[in-house]
Amino acid sequence: MTTVRTVLQIDASAQLEERSHTRKLTQSFVDRWTSLRPRDRLIRRDVGRSPIPAIDHAWIAAAFTKPEDRTPAMIERLRLSDQLVDEVIDSDVIVMGVPMYNYGVPAALKGWIDHVARIGRTFSFDLTRGDVPIEPILSGKTLVVLSARGEFGFTPGGIRAHMNALDPALAACAHYFGVARKDIHTITIEYQEFKDERYRHSVAEAELAVPALVDRLAAPARRAA
Ligand SMILES: Cc1cc2nc3c(=O)[nH]c(=O)nc-3n(C[C@H](O)[C@H](O)[C@H](O)COP(=O)(O)O)c2cc1C
Repeated sequence: MTTVRTVLQIDASAQLEERSHTRKLTQSFVDRWTSLRPRDRLIRRDVGRSPIPAIDHAWIAAAFTKPEDRTPAMIERLRLSDQLVDEVIDSDVIVMGVPMYNYGVPAALKGWIDHVARIGRTFSFDLTRGDVPIEPILSGKTLVVLSARGEFGFTPGGIRAHMNALDPALAACAHYFGVARKDIHTITIEYQEFKDERYRHSVAEAELAVPALVDRLAAPARRAA
């Protein structure tokens, strides 16, 4: 008997389905996953269409007040954050559609990360741990980053590797979502702004890579010997 797994689909493109490469890739991922594992759960969080607002002074004050000392206003201020954290806790696989905007993640997705990085819920902080006081609370999840960019050469050794503020930022924060670096899988469309053969090839490669990745990830987890 296979256990039910939960996929959290996050879309961050500000574009609508028909114009967005990353939305097409996340949809392809979820369609394939659902066809292989129809009993699994899907949670959708569309931060592109409903952007997560930036955190502010009231949010920080609420998050860093002990739960038992929070006022009703603080509890209310953290309601969305609590919901987003619950969605992460419930998930086994997080699939993110992440366009590159100004070399980084869209602001709406940064808002999501800031709401999910929560002391006492997704990380603990203890100075007795010395130089590494932050410890993640969640673990064992998989992150799939389905990205698209107009330019190219953002991987190590590429001509714009030094300008890539997207992939390193997601990897740095992945521990807040319970994801170890080895469990991040990234598929990227490049050259979108060039609209040439390299672009068409990149799209075709990504469209093949997504179902192949689903087939690997959706296979029942093997028991340790
Ligand atoms: C506001 C905005 C900023 C962008 N910034 C960059 C960038 O810094 N580097 C890049 O290579 N492409 C950039 N692009 C191109 C997008 O990454 C590309 O269009 C991608 O396909 C967007 O994902 P989507 O198709 O899912 O919407 C930008 C596009 C927009 C709309």
